[in-house]
Amino acid sequence: MTIQWFPGHMAKARRQVTEKLKLVDIVIELVDARIPLSSRNPMIEEIIGQKPRLVLLNKADMADPVKTDQWITYFEEQGIKALAVNAQGGKGLHSIVQSAKDILKEKFDRMKSRGMRPRAIRAMIVGIPNVGKSTLINRLAKKNIAKTGNTPGVTKAQQWIKVGKELELLDTPGILWPKFEDESVGYKLALTGAIKDTILNLQDIALFGLNFLEANYPERLKDRYSLDEIPEEILAKFDAVGKKRGCLMAGGEVDYDKTSEVIIRDIRNVQLGPMTFDMIKELESGDI
Ligand code: G4P
Repeated sequence: MTIQWFPGHMAKARRQVTEKLKLVDIVIELVDARIPLSSRNPMIEEIIGQKPRLVLLNKADMADPVKTDQWITYFEEQGIKALAVNAQGGKGLHSIVQSAKDILKEKFDRMKSRGMRPRAIRAMIVGIPNVGKSTLINRLAKKNIAKTGNTPGVTKAQQWIKVGKELELLDTPGILWPKFEDESVGYKLALTGAIKDTILNLQDIALFGLNFLEANYPERLKDRYSLDEIPEEILAKFDAVGKKRGCLMAGGEVDYDKTSEVIIRDIRNVQLGPMTFDMIKELESGDI
């Protein structure tokens, strides 16, 4: 489901997260491991403030494992504990409780020394749409919790889900908006399926994808579309892929919209292998 994020929705989403923050000890921020920065809400630091936080790089099964390690190091250098997980398959989820305990150790030790009764850690999940919040909650709850429409403002009675004895999770995640300012962030969100019906031009997204593949994974590009060489010229690239994949119009000319759809779908469905689109080097040059 695509959300149209208007200023009113953003304000409401922010208010809802801020309200729930009061109930929890820790925020579990979900990002897409393929775009660990581009899939973050642009105001996340401000919204979460001083609340302790654990970042989960979800969909790690679809990301480049070497880059995922680099991003985990990056977060840790910012003083933020981060874990790579696969909410769908379950990989990495067993570390969540222990990491939350480590992050909150001082607070809970302090509570204990003041004579307070031990209790479970309370947590909430936040993230932009489609990063896997519902999948994670269901997986941790070990049952299917109905999705409350992916719409900011849709509310229902708040419930706690027990994750073992030591963690309690709010059953509805905080849904925050993605970044909009930067075109390349938009392309990355589209190529990873974070935004689907997009206001961005299909051919522009595909071109961004092709250029990214050529620069970073040229052999995979050649393999996937049986190309001996990657043509230099933009149109020739589309022509080569379109012809190989039979994306032709009635007269036999390449259909660029169809070709773009094929490229985008292949990237989203990991047909060219696991990939990470956000690079540490872009961060250093200010491009994310
Ligand atoms: P949300 O609540 O944050 O909006 O996300 P949701 O859980 O609905 O997940 C979005 C899509 O991502 C779902 O696919 C879900 O199965 C998939 N997903 C979640 N976590 C993982 C993961 O760790 N690995 C992989 N490979 N996929 C994951 P879907 O329902 O099929 O929707 P879509 O494919 O049409 O986007």
